[in-house]
Parts: sequence; structure tokens; C-alpha cells
Amino acid sequence: MPSIFSSPNPTLFGVGTSRVIGDKLKEFGCQKVLVVYDQGVKEAGIVDPLLGYIHAAGIETVSFDRVLPDPPDWLVDEAGMLGINEKVDGVVGIGGGSSLDTAKGVKVLLSNPPPINQYFGRFKGVKNADKPLIVVPTTAGTGSEHTPGGTITDTRRNAKDVVEIVGRSVDLGIVDPELTLSLPPRVTAITGMDALCHLVESFTSKWSNRFCETFAREGITLAGKYLVRAYRDGSDLEAREGMMFAASLGGMSMLGPLCHLGHDIGRRLGANFKMAHGLSCCTCLPQVVEFIAPVLPDKVKLIAEALGGMVPEGAPPKEIGRIARETIQKVMKAIEMPNLKSLGLAKKDVLAIAPEIMELGLVTAPVTPTLADITTLLERAYEEN
Ligand SMILES: [Fe+2]
Repeated sequence: MPSIFSSPNPTLFGVGTSRVIGDKLKEFGCQKVLVVYDQGVKEAGIVDPLLGYIHAAGIETVSFDRVLPDPPDWLVDEAGMLGINEKVDGVVGIGGGSSLDTAKGVKVLLSNPPPINQYFGRFKGVKNADKPLIVVPTTAGTGSEHTPGGTITDTRRNAKDVVEIVGRSVDLGIVDPELTLSLPPRVTAITGMDALCHLVESFTSKWSNRFCETFAREGITLAGKYLVRAYRDGSDLEAREGMMFAASLGGMSMLGPLCHLGHDIGRRLGANFKMAHGLSCCTCLPQVVEFIAPVLPDKVKLIAEALGGMVPEGAPPKEIGRIARETIQKVMKAIEMPNLKSLGLAKKDVLAIAPEIMELGLVTAPVTPTLADITTLLERAYEEN
């Protein structure tokens, strides 16, 4: 089967790399940039040093500091209008997925008329978004520096949609593990599980290929080694670097294969119950991996072993699936991930979203689930995790 890998987005990875952000903007010819972030990143003390590096390079900044989770379309329009009115010639996104997605939306609007929601649609690429964008992730989760799209909430439909950019969606990703040292354990856990979902789901997607598999294998191994360590000791720079690289590999691994059932279920859980993205996507991951084990036993065995599970030689697929499920559950317990029950959700409300999940199409799942399968996945995740 042919394999394709395509990522036009350059990435600079390493401890301390964020200090060169001003020089990099200068290389792009920027004189005044819009800097997009939220109050949490500002309060964590991450924004001010970065603004200092940008100013030291002689570049003016305008701040949009009101990013919201699951950024709504109107907020992206506001950020874009600020950039247009201030005549900026570049954008910087600092933060987790929501800030980086907002910044991608601004990049579109700096070269294309608002509103942003006219550009929604997977594979409906925006062609001439040519103002430079630097993203600086501050969580080890999204891998957004590699992906072509920004996820934005379509408030008309109460659903997330995507705006994709043809060519470089990001002109430079500066991925500096040092910036994650101040992440609280809960955010480390939720964003780390998002990264693990990207890796596991793209690795086992129906559209997976050899490039993706190479990135994903290494990423899952790193997550197995470092996620719990980073959760237990946030100052462990080796663990932070390992998780940041795993997350970045997750972004690369998703290019083409995308994700499948974990994220499909997560999209509807997130929309219905306002759950954080990483939490909603991982909450059924143990059961999803067990569900697909009969068709992908070798891949599921690799996942289990990379995350610390012991799979006996010659174990049948069903046994491999059980071990993989228990191994992922153990990781999630070690990082104290809340489950659907502990979030206070009623089981009947959770099960009621199964038809909505089916409506998503589920085209990348390696096993095409029935409505009964999805209901069972939700019910087991509710009772077991
Ligand atoms: Fe995700």
C-alpha cells in the first residue's frame, strides 16, 4: 500500500529555543505582530519573557489575550479584526490548542475577508494565507505546529469545525519543553493523554501508513516512558522534553491517517458535556484499543508493551486487547484522570450520544462499529475506567 507524508511546516525543537522567537520573526520580515494567548499562560509567566525577546528584536506587538477554550468563531473574528485594524504583518500564538487554533484562524483572516466560518470544512483549504505565523506550544498535547488545520467552534451549529490552510499553516513551530515546566499536574495529564490518543489512533487508523507508524511507535514509547514521570514531577526536564517530543510526533503522525474512535467519541462528549478536549478523547481509549485488537493484534501488542504491559508470547488477539486495555487504564489511574462517572455525568445521558457519534461517519476506524458497539464502548468506559 502506498504511503504519503506531507508536512510543509518547519519546526524548531529543543530546550531554550523560544529565546530566538524575535530573530525568527525578523527573518520573516515582520515589524509588528499580533500575539495571541489566554490569561492562564500570561499568569504562568510564559508570555512576558517571549514578548521581551520579540521587542528586543525591534518588533512591535499587539496582544489579543482573551482566547477561550474551544475558541468560538466570533472570538477568532475579533482577534482577526484586531490584527487587521492594527495593520500587523505577522501572528504569534502562545499556549495550548485553543490559542494556537485561534492564531491559525487569524493567519487566514489577515489575508482573506472575515468571517472565519466561511472557511470551515476539512479538505477545503484556504490558499493565500501568507502572513507569517509562529506558534509556541506551552503544553505537550496538540502537535498543532504540524497540522494544517485550526479547530474552531461553529456557534451556529454548536459543533467544532476546522479551517485548513494550503501550504504552510504554520511558518515556524517553536517547541521548547522548558515552557511546560510550570504546567499543573492536571493539565499535564489531560494534554499528555491527548497526545497519546493522537499517536495510538493515527497508528491504528484505517488510513495509517509507514511514515505515520514510524513516528507513532517512537511517540508511544516516549509517552510510556515519560507521561507518568512528567505528571509526578513537573520539574523533571527530561520527562518534559520526552513528552513534548511525543506530542510533536503525534502531530506528524496524524497527518493523513487522522484519528479515529477516541477523538470521534471525544468530539460529541466535549460538545454535549463541555469536557476538556484531551479528557473527552481519552475517556474511552482503553476500550477502543481492546475493541480493535481482533483486527490489529500486532499493533495493539506494541501499544501495550510500549506503555509497560506484559504480553505473553503467542497471546491470542482477545488476550492482547485485554492487556492493552488494562495497561492504558493503569496509566490513566497513575495520572489520576477523572472518568465519566466521577465527572458527575449520568450514564443514560452519556449513552444517549451514541447515535450522534455514529453520524460522524467514523471512516478512519479500523473496525466499522455498529450503534450497539458504540453504546457498549461508552457503557464500559463509564463502568470500568
Ligand atoms: Fe486531540
